[in-house]
Amino acid sequence: MAKDPVRVLVTGAAGQIGYALVPMIARGVMLGADQPVILHMLDIPPAAEALNGVKMELVDAAFPLLKGVVATTDVVEACKGVHIAVMVGGFPRKEGMERKDVMSKNVSIYKSQASALEAHAAANCKVLVVANPANTNALILKEFAPSIPEKNITCLTRLDHNRALGQVSERLSVQVSDVKNVIIWGNHSSTQYPDVTHATVKTSAGEKAIRELVADDAWLNGEFICTVQQRGAAIIKARKFSSALSAASSACDHIRDWVVGTPEGTWVSMGVYSDGSYDVPAGLIYSFPVTCKNGEWSIVQGLSIDDFSRNKLNKTAEELSEEKALAYSCLA
Ligand code: NAD
Ligand code: LMR
Repeated sequence: MAKDPVRVLVTGAAGQIGYALVPMIARGVMLGADQPVILHMLDIPPAAEALNGVKMELVDAAFPLLKGVVATTDVVEACKGVHIAVMVGGFPRKEGMERKDVMSKNVSIYKSQASALEAHAAANCKVLVVANPANTNALILKEFAPSIPEKNITCLTRLDHNRALGQVSERLSVQVSDVKNVIIWGNHSSTQYPDVTHATVKTSAGEKAIRELVADDAWLNGEFICTVQQRGAAIIKARKFSSALSAASSACDHIRDWVVGTPEGTWVSMGVYSDGSYDVPAGLIYSFPVTCKNGEWSIVQGLSIDDFSRNKLNKTAEELSEEKALAYSCLA
Protein backbone atom coordinates (compact mmCIF):
# COMPACT_ATOMS: atom_id res chain seq x y z
CA MET A 1 0.00 0.00 0.00
CA ALA A 2 1.30 3.49 -0.87
CA LYS A 3 2.53 5.50 2.11
CA ASP A 4 0.83 8.74 3.12
CA PRO A 5 2.82 11.80 2.03
CA VAL A 6 5.13 13.44 4.56
CA ARG A 7 5.00 17.23 4.69
CA VAL A 8 8.48 18.76 4.64
CA LEU A 9 9.04 22.46 5.29
CA VAL A 10 12.10 24.20 3.84
CA THR A 11 12.53 27.81 4.93
CA GLY A 12 14.72 30.06 2.82
CA ALA A 13 13.69 27.86 -0.09
CA ALA A 14 14.47 30.47 -2.75
CA GLY A 15 18.08 30.66 -1.59
CA GLN A 16 21.11 28.68 -2.64
CA ILE A 17 20.75 25.74 -0.26
CA GLY A 18 17.01 25.67 -0.83
CA TYR A 19 17.51 25.40 -4.57
CA ALA A 20 19.82 22.41 -4.09
CA LEU A 21 17.73 20.82 -1.35
CA VAL A 22 14.17 20.79 -2.64
CA PRO A 23 14.89 18.56 -5.67
CA MET A 24 16.76 16.13 -3.41
CA ILE A 25 13.72 15.89 -1.14
CA ALA A 26 11.35 15.53 -4.11
CA ARG A 27 13.51 12.73 -5.51
CA GLY A 28 13.45 10.69 -2.29
CA VAL A 29 17.03 11.36 -1.20
CA MET A 30 15.91 12.51 2.23
CA LEU A 31 13.08 10.12 3.10
CA GLY A 32 13.45 7.22 0.70
CA ALA A 33 12.40 6.18 -2.78
CA ASP A 34 8.97 4.93 -1.61
CA GLN A 35 8.04 7.95 0.51
CA PRO A 36 5.76 10.53 -1.15
CA VAL A 37 6.29 14.11 0.00
CA ILE A 38 4.50 17.44 0.00
CA LEU A 39 6.96 20.34 0.00
CA HIS A 40 6.22 23.49 1.98
CA MET A 41 8.55 26.29 0.89
CA LEU A 42 8.84 29.55 2.81
CA ASP A 43 10.72 32.69 1.91
CA ILE A 44 10.33 36.43 2.50
CA PRO A 45 8.33 38.78 0.24
CA PRO A 46 11.34 40.17 -1.71
CA ALA A 47 12.08 36.57 -2.76
CA ALA A 48 8.47 35.66 -3.59
CA GLU A 49 8.97 35.75 -7.36
CA ALA A 50 12.10 33.62 -7.19
CA LEU A 51 10.27 31.21 -4.89
CA ASN A 52 7.49 30.90 -7.44
CA GLY A 53 10.16 30.14 -10.04
CA VAL A 54 11.42 27.26 -7.88
CA LYS A 55 7.87 25.96 -7.62
CA MET A 56 7.52 26.14 -11.43
CA GLU A 57 10.72 24.11 -11.81
CA LEU A 58 9.51 21.49 -9.34
CA VAL A 59 6.35 21.09 -11.42
CA ASP A 60 8.41 20.91 -14.61
CA ALA A 61 10.67 18.21 -13.17
CA ALA A 62 7.61 15.92 -12.75
CA PHE A 63 8.97 14.14 -9.66
CA PRO A 64 6.83 11.03 -9.13
CA LEU A 65 7.10 11.27 -5.31
CA LEU A 66 6.09 14.93 -5.16
CA LYS A 67 2.40 15.10 -4.24
CA GLY A 68 2.09 18.84 -3.71
CA VAL A 69 3.95 22.12 -3.29
CA VAL A 70 3.04 25.00 -0.99
CA ALA A 71 5.14 28.08 -1.85
CA THR A 72 4.43 30.98 0.45
CA THR A 73 5.72 34.01 2.31
CA ASP A 74 3.25 33.37 5.13
CA VAL A 75 4.96 31.55 8.00
CA VAL A 76 1.68 30.17 9.38
CA GLU A 77 0.67 28.67 6.05
CA ALA A 78 4.18 27.29 5.63
CA CYS A 79 4.21 25.54 9.02
CA LYS A 80 0.72 24.00 8.84
CA GLY A 81 0.83 20.27 9.46
CA VAL A 82 4.53 19.82 8.67
CA HIS A 83 6.20 16.62 9.91
CA ILE A 84 9.74 17.76 9.18
CA ALA A 85 11.07 21.32 9.21
CA VAL A 86 14.42 22.19 7.66
CA MET A 87 15.18 25.73 8.72
CA VAL A 88 17.54 27.26 6.15
CA GLY A 89 16.10 30.79 6.00
CA GLY A 90 18.40 33.56 7.16
CA PHE A 91 21.40 35.58 6.19
CA PRO A 92 24.61 33.74 5.22
CA ARG A 93 27.99 35.07 6.30
CA LYS A 94 30.31 36.65 3.77
CA GLU A 95 34.07 36.41 3.38
CA GLY A 96 35.93 37.58 6.50
CA MET A 97 32.97 37.07 8.88
CA GLU A 98 32.58 34.44 11.59
CA ARG A 99 29.26 32.60 11.68
CA LYS A 100 28.30 34.35 14.90
CA ASP A 101 28.55 37.69 13.06
CA VAL A 102 25.15 36.95 11.51
CA MET A 103 23.71 36.39 14.99
CA SER A 104 21.57 39.48 15.48
CA LYS A 105 19.75 39.09 12.16
CA ASN A 106 19.17 35.39 12.47
CA VAL A 107 18.23 34.76 16.09
CA SER A 108 15.23 37.07 15.87
CA ILE A 109 13.99 35.10 12.85
CA TYR A 110 14.29 31.89 14.88
CA LYS A 111 12.44 33.34 17.82
CA SER A 112 9.44 34.30 15.69
CA GLN A 113 9.42 31.11 13.61
CA ALA A 114 9.54 29.03 16.82
CA SER A 115 6.07 30.25 17.73
CA ALA A 116 4.65 29.45 14.27
CA LEU A 117 6.09 25.94 14.33
CA GLU A 118 4.86 25.32 17.85
CA ALA A 119 1.35 26.43 16.96
CA HIS A 120 0.96 24.89 13.50
CA ALA A 121 3.36 22.00 12.83
CA ALA A 122 2.23 18.38 13.23
CA ALA A 123 2.71 16.82 16.65
CA ASN A 124 6.19 15.33 16.92
CA CYS A 125 7.56 17.45 14.06
CA LYS A 126 11.32 16.96 13.70
CA VAL A 127 13.25 20.21 13.28
CA LEU A 128 16.68 20.66 11.71
CA VAL A 129 18.25 24.13 11.86
CA VAL A 130 20.78 24.82 9.12
CA ALA A 131 21.01 28.62 9.15
CA ASN A 132 23.94 30.09 11.07
CA PRO A 133 24.77 30.37 13.85
CA ALA A 134 23.10 26.96 13.61
CA ASN A 135 23.50 25.70 17.20
CA THR A 136 22.37 28.96 18.75
CA ASN A 137 19.48 29.47 16.32
CA ALA A 138 18.31 25.97 17.25
CA LEU A 139 18.62 26.79 20.94
CA ILE A 140 16.56 29.96 20.52
CA LEU A 141 13.96 28.01 18.54
CA LYS A 142 13.80 25.45 21.36
CA GLU A 143 13.48 28.08 24.07
CA PHE A 144 10.69 29.94 22.28
CA ALA A 145 8.77 26.77 21.36
CA PRO A 146 8.58 25.18 24.80
CA SER A 147 5.90 22.66 23.84
CA ILE A 148 8.06 21.09 21.11
CA PRO A 149 10.01 18.30 22.83
CA GLU A 150 13.70 19.21 23.07
CA LYS A 151 14.56 15.87 21.44
CA ASN A 152 12.88 17.15 18.28
CA ILE A 153 15.11 20.20 17.79
CA THR A 154 18.53 19.67 16.25
CA CYS A 155 21.10 21.54 14.18
CA LEU A 156 23.29 20.56 11.26
CA THR A 157 26.85 19.45 11.96
CA ARG A 158 26.60 16.52 9.57
CA LEU A 159 28.27 18.66 6.92
CA ASP A 160 31.33 18.96 9.18
CA HIS A 161 31.14 15.22 9.88
CA ASN A 162 31.05 14.47 6.15
CA ARG A 163 33.91 16.92 5.55
CA ALA A 164 35.99 14.99 8.12
CA LEU A 165 35.19 11.68 6.38
CA GLY A 166 36.18 13.26 3.07
CA GLN A 167 39.53 14.54 4.38
CA VAL A 168 40.48 11.12 5.77
CA SER A 169 39.40 9.38 2.59
CA GLU A 170 41.57 11.73 0.49
CA ARG A 171 44.57 11.39 2.78
CA LEU A 172 44.46 7.57 2.80
CA SER A 173 43.15 7.16 -0.78
CA VAL A 174 40.29 4.98 0.48
CA GLN A 175 36.60 5.07 -0.36
CA VAL A 176 34.74 7.59 1.77
CA SER A 177 32.08 4.94 2.39
CA ASP A 178 34.72 2.80 4.15
CA VAL A 179 35.50 5.54 6.72
CA LYS A 180 33.26 5.83 9.77
CA ASN A 181 32.78 7.06 13.32
CA VAL A 182 34.53 10.40 13.15
CA ILE A 183 32.96 12.84 15.61
CA ILE A 184 32.23 16.54 15.43
CA TRP A 185 32.00 17.90 18.97
CA GLY A 186 30.43 21.24 19.80
CA ASN A 187 29.66 24.25 17.68
CA HIS A 188 29.25 24.47 13.90
CA SER A 189 32.00 27.10 13.97
CA SER A 190 35.76 27.33 13.83
CA THR A 191 35.96 26.04 17.44
CA GLN A 192 34.33 22.71 16.54
CA TYR A 193 36.45 19.66 17.33
CA PRO A 194 36.67 17.07 14.55
CA ASP A 195 37.85 13.97 16.44
CA VAL A 196 39.18 10.78 14.83
CA THR A 197 40.15 9.02 18.06
CA HIS A 198 37.46 6.34 17.67
CA ALA A 199 37.16 6.39 13.88
CA THR A 200 37.94 3.45 11.65
CA VAL A 201 38.47 2.46 8.02
CA LYS A 202 37.24 -0.79 6.51
CA THR A 203 40.20 -2.61 4.92
CA SER A 204 40.67 -6.08 3.43
CA ALA A 205 42.20 -7.03 6.81
CA GLY A 206 39.15 -5.80 8.78
CA GLU A 207 38.45 -2.47 10.47
CA LYS A 208 41.53 -0.46 11.37
CA ALA A 209 41.81 2.67 13.52
CA ILE A 210 42.41 5.83 11.52
CA ARG A 211 45.23 6.81 13.88
CA GLU A 212 46.99 3.53 13.06
CA LEU A 213 46.57 3.95 9.30
CA VAL A 214 47.44 7.63 9.08
CA ALA A 215 50.26 7.26 11.64
CA ASP A 216 50.82 11.03 11.64
CA ASP A 217 49.46 12.59 14.81
CA ALA A 218 50.85 15.96 13.81
CA TRP A 219 48.55 15.94 10.75
CA LEU A 220 45.56 14.52 12.63
CA ASN A 221 45.90 16.95 15.55
CA GLY A 222 46.83 19.93 13.38
CA GLU A 223 46.13 20.35 9.68
CA PHE A 224 43.22 17.91 9.58
CA ILE A 225 41.35 19.67 12.40
CA CYS A 226 42.06 23.08 10.93
CA THR A 227 40.95 22.09 7.43
CA VAL A 228 37.59 20.82 8.69
CA GLN A 229 37.10 23.81 11.00
CA GLN A 230 37.87 26.25 8.17
CA ARG A 231 36.21 24.42 5.29
CA GLY A 232 33.13 26.64 5.26
CA ALA A 233 35.36 29.72 4.94
CA ALA A 234 37.43 28.04 2.20
CA ILE A 235 34.26 27.36 0.19
CA ILE A 236 33.11 30.97 0.60
CA LYS A 237 36.53 32.17 -0.59
CA ALA A 238 36.43 29.88 -3.62
CA ARG A 239 32.77 30.23 -4.63
CA LYS A 240 32.01 33.66 -3.20
CA PHE A 241 28.90 31.96 -1.78
CA SER A 242 28.66 29.56 1.11
CA SER A 243 28.45 25.82 0.60
CA ALA A 244 25.14 24.75 -0.86
CA LEU A 245 25.15 21.33 -2.53
CA SER A 246 27.15 19.76 0.30
CA ALA A 247 24.96 21.48 2.91
CA ALA A 248 21.79 20.25 1.18
CA SER A 249 23.11 16.72 0.83
CA SER A 250 24.21 16.64 4.48
CA ALA A 251 20.80 17.92 5.60
CA CYS A 252 19.26 14.94 3.76
CA ASP A 253 21.74 12.61 5.50
CA HIS A 254 20.85 14.09 8.90
CA ILE A 255 17.09 13.67 8.48
CA ARG A 256 17.34 10.27 6.78
CA ASP A 257 19.44 8.78 9.57
CA TRP A 258 17.23 10.36 12.24
CA VAL A 259 14.05 8.94 10.66
CA VAL A 260 15.30 5.64 9.24
CA GLY A 261 18.08 4.88 11.77
CA THR A 262 21.87 4.66 11.69
CA PRO A 263 23.48 1.42 10.48
CA GLU A 264 24.60 -1.03 13.18
CA GLY A 265 27.99 -0.05 14.61
CA THR A 266 27.95 3.42 13.06
CA TRP A 267 27.35 6.77 14.63
CA VAL A 268 26.91 10.22 13.09
CA SER A 269 27.25 13.76 14.44
CA MET A 270 24.18 15.85 15.24
CA GLY A 271 23.76 19.10 17.13
CA VAL A 272 21.37 18.14 19.95
CA TYR A 273 20.25 19.47 23.30
CA SER A 274 22.96 18.61 25.83
CA ASP A 275 21.93 16.51 28.83
CA GLY A 276 25.36 16.95 30.43
CA SER A 277 26.92 13.91 28.72
CA TYR A 278 30.74 14.12 28.54
CA ASP A 279 30.53 16.99 31.06
CA VAL A 280 29.23 19.32 28.36
CA PRO A 281 27.06 21.92 30.11
CA ALA A 282 23.37 21.02 29.91
CA GLY A 283 21.21 23.55 28.12
CA LEU A 284 23.35 24.07 25.01
CA ILE A 285 22.75 22.67 21.54
CA TYR A 286 26.06 20.86 21.11
CA SER A 287 27.22 18.38 18.48
CA PHE A 288 27.68 14.86 19.83
CA PRO A 289 28.13 11.40 18.34
CA VAL A 290 24.65 9.87 18.14
CA THR A 291 22.97 6.71 16.96
CA CYS A 292 19.36 6.77 15.79
CA LYS A 293 16.65 4.14 16.11
CA ASN A 294 12.86 4.28 15.78
CA GLY A 295 13.00 7.99 14.95
CA GLU A 296 14.98 8.95 18.08
CA TRP A 297 18.62 9.87 18.53
CA SER A 298 20.73 8.88 21.54
CA ILE A 299 24.15 10.20 22.46
CA VAL A 300 26.82 7.49 22.23
CA GLN A 301 28.06 6.97 25.79
CA GLY A 302 31.31 5.77 27.30
CA LEU A 303 33.86 6.99 24.73
CA SER A 304 37.24 7.77 26.25
CA ILE A 305 38.23 11.45 26.18
CA ASP A 306 41.94 12.22 26.57
CA ASP A 307 43.35 15.56 27.76
CA PHE A 308 43.82 16.90 24.22
CA SER A 309 40.17 16.19 23.40
CA ARG A 310 38.88 17.43 26.78
CA ASN A 311 40.45 20.78 26.20
CA LYS A 312 38.85 21.06 22.77
CA LEU A 313 35.40 19.91 24.01
CA ASN A 314 35.56 22.61 26.69
CA LYS A 315 36.67 25.36 24.31
CA THR A 316 33.78 24.90 21.91
CA ALA A 317 31.31 24.62 24.84
CA GLU A 318 32.62 27.95 26.16
CA GLU A 319 31.98 29.56 22.78
CA LEU A 320 28.43 28.18 22.76
CA SER A 321 27.76 29.60 26.23
CA GLU A 322 29.03 32.98 25.02
CA GLU A 323 26.84 32.76 21.90
CA LYS A 324 23.82 31.94 24.05
CA ALA A 325 24.42 35.08 26.14
CA LEU A 326 24.96 37.15 22.97
CA ALA A 327 21.77 35.78 21.41
CA TYR A 328 19.74 36.79 24.45
CA SER A 329 21.30 40.25 24.39
CA CYS A 330 20.34 40.58 20.70
CA LEU A 331 16.75 39.60 21.53
CA ALA A 332 16.49 41.94 24.54
P1 NAD B 1 20.89 32.38 0.80
O1 NAD B 1 21.04 33.81 1.15
O2 NAD B 1 21.18 31.94 -0.60
O3 NAD B 1 19.40 31.91 1.12
C1 NAD B 1 18.78 32.23 2.31
C2 NAD B 1 17.32 32.43 1.99
O4 NAD B 1 16.64 32.69 3.25
C3 NAD B 1 17.04 33.62 1.08
O5 NAD B 1 16.22 33.22 -0.01
C4 NAD B 1 16.32 34.61 1.99
O6 NAD B 1 15.38 35.41 1.30
C5 NAD B 1 15.67 33.66 2.97
N1 NAD B 1 15.22 34.28 4.22
C6 NAD B 1 15.76 35.33 4.88
N2 NAD B 1 15.01 35.60 5.96
C7 NAD B 1 14.02 34.69 6.00
C8 NAD B 1 12.93 34.46 6.87
N3 NAD B 1 12.70 35.25 7.93
N4 NAD B 1 12.09 33.44 6.60
C9 NAD B 1 12.29 32.66 5.51
N5 NAD B 1 13.30 32.83 4.65
C10 NAD B 1 14.15 33.84 4.88
O7 NAD B 1 21.74 31.55 1.86
P2 NAD B 1 22.19 30.02 1.78
O8 NAD B 1 23.52 29.96 1.14
O9 NAD B 1 21.06 29.19 1.27
O10 NAD B 1 22.42 29.73 3.33
C11 NAD B 1 21.35 29.72 4.24
C12 NAD B 1 21.85 29.63 5.68
O11 NAD B 1 22.49 28.36 5.90
C13 NAD B 1 22.90 30.67 6.03
O12 NAD B 1 22.69 31.11 7.37
C14 NAD B 1 24.21 29.90 5.95
O13 NAD B 1 25.23 30.50 6.71
C15 NAD B 1 23.77 28.57 6.51
N6 NAD B 1 24.60 27.40 6.24
C16 NAD B 1 24.72 26.47 7.22
C17 NAD B 1 25.44 25.31 7.01
C18 NAD B 1 25.58 24.26 8.07
O14 NAD B 1 26.32 23.30 7.87
N7 NAD B 1 24.93 24.36 9.23
C19 NAD B 1 26.03 25.10 5.76
C20 NAD B 1 25.89 26.06 4.76
C21 NAD B 1 25.17 27.22 5.02
C1 LMR C 1 29.51 26.07 6.02
O1 LMR C 1 30.04 25.45 6.94
O2 LMR C 1 29.82 25.90 4.84
C2 LMR C 1 28.44 27.05 6.35
O3 LMR C 1 28.22 27.13 7.72
C3 LMR C 1 28.64 28.36 5.73
C4 LMR C 1 29.66 29.15 6.49
O4 LMR C 1 29.37 30.30 6.84
O5 LMR C 1 30.74 28.62 6.74
